[in-house]
Parts: sequence; structure tokens; C-alpha cells
Amino acid sequence: MTWLVTGGAGYIGAHVVEALTEAGMPAVVLDDLSSGHAGFVPESVPFVRGSILDGELVARALDEHAVTGVIHVAGYKYAGVSVTRPLHTYEQNVTGTAVLLERMQSAGVDRVVFSSSAAVYGTPDTLLVTEETPKAPESPYGESKLVGEWLLRDQATAAGLHATALRYFNVVGSGSPRLFDSSPHNLFPLVFDALSEGRVPRINGDDYDTPDGTCVRDYIHVADLALAHVAAAKRLEVGDELLPAYNLGSGEGVSVRQIMDTVAEVTGIAFVPEIGPRRPGDPARIVASGELAARDLDWRMRHDLREMVASAWAAHQAASRG
Ligand SMILES: NC(=O)c1ccc[n+]([C@@H]2O[C@H](COP(=O)([O-])OP(=O)(O)OC[C@H]3O[C@@H](n4cnc5c(N)ncnc54)[C@H](O)[C@@H]3O)[C@@H](O)[C@H]2O)c1
Repeated sequence: MTWLVTGGAGYIGAHVVEALTEAGMPAVVLDDLSSGHAGFVPESVPFVRGSILDGELVARALDEHAVTGVIHVAGYKYAGVSVTRPLHTYEQNVTGTAVLLERMQSAGVDRVVFSSSAAVYGTPDTLLVTEETPKAPESPYGESKLVGEWLLRDQATAAGLHATALRYFNVVGSGSPRLFDSSPHNLFPLVFDALSEGRVPRINGDDYDTPDGTCVRDYIHVADLALAHVAAAKRLEVGDELLPAYNLGSGEGVSVRQIMDTVAEVTGIAFVPEIGPRRPGDPARIVASGELAARDLDWRMRHDLREMVASAWAAHQAASRG
């Protein structure tokens, strides 16, 4: 079976491709390089450059590479920016997914693993988010991911699609120093960029109702995340049915201050973070249970916080050396 990885030149997609390759599962990448890097795609993996919005290109990629399943990672992921670019966000994440599913149906490709997000929950009023926690997205980004899940559900009913969505929490780390997160909005790259430029990283608010006053989030290592995709793909390959959605969370929260302390330890750069005001809309704590994924997708935290920070820092340093 050959798996098409949309967005396979991006941070998470490239790790998925690496994990598929290591598992001996053939992969093909389709990516328009809007935020990805051609250099993230290994030479041994066929690379189709273009958008999932280009139905003919998608159809050709499915056909020419005899694709039997799709891991749909491509997307526009900037939740904050999506508020000012709702139409772009919906075009990429909703229309793009619809075009992909339509072409899959025409080609008889009936298995898909979809990159969803914790953003479908908005600000959940619970200590531990489960798959049943009410969905209340608070940005066009979160909405577009939820609609993506609905598209999968409805295609399963209408056309027998075998599908599952993986709701990622805060993805960090690097599985290899050549792969890094280049997002200008995520905490790790922001902290590393600040340190590299001699600025002091900032904590947005230290007066939350949490043990140390800073926000608590659920950090997961990208290489662990990639393995869950391989497990899902394998289950779909042998005809197993999976749940419509799984949380990929650790069950454990880590505070922003704990991250800063670990960064100081790992980098050897002693710093005292600047404390800024709260960012509007930042909830105090979001932590998810990954129990169902552990049961069905061999989901485990194979890396601790120190490894997440150290691997991300090593990849950031390698990237800045070019
Ligand atoms: N990084 C996170 O913490 C996180 C959390 C939850 C969900 N996600 C989701 O995971 C997916 C991957 O995120 P990432 O962090 O690797 O981001 P990324 O920006 O590094 O990767 C996205 C990839 O998709 C490609 N792409 C975007 N639009 C495309 C299109 N129309 N056609 C073809 N390719 C396209 C980009 O060029 C890029 O390579 C996204 O769908 C994102 O919404 C990420």
C-alpha cells in the first residue's frame, strides 16, 4: 500500500513521512510549499509539488503513484491569523479537504487519516479533555478543522470512507535535526528566536489560576505523533475500523514557566523571562487524555519534556547554521 502524505514537506508531515519510511510503508508527498520546505522530503520519496485545491493534480498523483490511502496533513495552521483571514483558512482547510475527498472517491481510495486539532474544543471547561468534550472552536481555524472532521464523517456514511481524525495538542520537538518547526507563532520557535537574537523570552501572564501562575498546556513530541499516524494507517490497511477522532494528548500539563526553565537548562543560557500581560483568549489550562489513542494506536509519550526541548533546540540551531 502506498500512502499519499499531503503537507509532507511541513514540520509534522515530514516526520510522518520519516516514520512511514522507517516502517517500510511507501509514501508520496503532495505539498504546495506554502509553508513547507522541499528539503524536508527525502530523495527516495516521490514529491508532487502543488495544491490539494488542484483536483486534477490530486487525481494524477493518486493514479500515477497507485495510492491506496491518504494521510491528510496539509493545512493552514495559524489559529490567531485565521481570525483575520477566515476565507483563506476555509479555502485551504475545508475546500481543500473537500477536493481531496472528492478525488479520492473517484479514484477508489477509501482510507484517510486527518490532521485535526485541539482547537476544535475552544476553551474547554474541564480538567481533562476527552473526545466527548463539547466542541466549541473559537477561531476560523478551529472551525475549519471541525468541518474537516464532519466531511470525513459524512463521506464515511455516503461513500464508505474509512477515516479517522487525530486531534493534536501542542506539538513540539524534532525527530531529526534536519526537521524543524518554522512557525512564527508557536512557543518553542518564539523562545529560541528570542534567545538567538539576544532578547529575553516573554511569558504572557503569570497570574492564572495554575500552580505557578502561568498557562498550562499539553506538549507532545512530534516523533511520537508521527508513530500514531503510522499505527492508524496500519489499522486502516488491514480493514480495522477506528474511532472518528482521537485526542493525541499526554494527560499531563506543563506550564510555560516549566518550559522556560527547561530551555534555560538545555541551552545553558541563563535568563529570567520577561512577564507580559495575559494574551486575550488564552485559557489557563488545556490538557487532554490520550487513553483511546493509547488503546487503539499504541500512543505513548516516548519522550519527556527535556527531550522535546533538546531536540527542538538542536534542530533550531542546525537550521540557523543553514
Ligand atoms: N503544529 C501544531 O502544533 C499543530 C497542532 C494541531 C494541528 N496541526 C495541524 O497539523 C498540520 C500540519 O501542521 P504543521 O505544524 O506541520 O504545519 P506546517 O505549516 O509546517 O505544514 C503544513 C504543510 O502543508 C502544506 N500546505 C498548506 N496548504 C497546502 C495546500 N493547499 N496544498 C498542498 N500543501 C499545502 C505546507 O506547504 C506545509 O508543508 C496542519 O493541518 C495543522 O493544522 C498542527
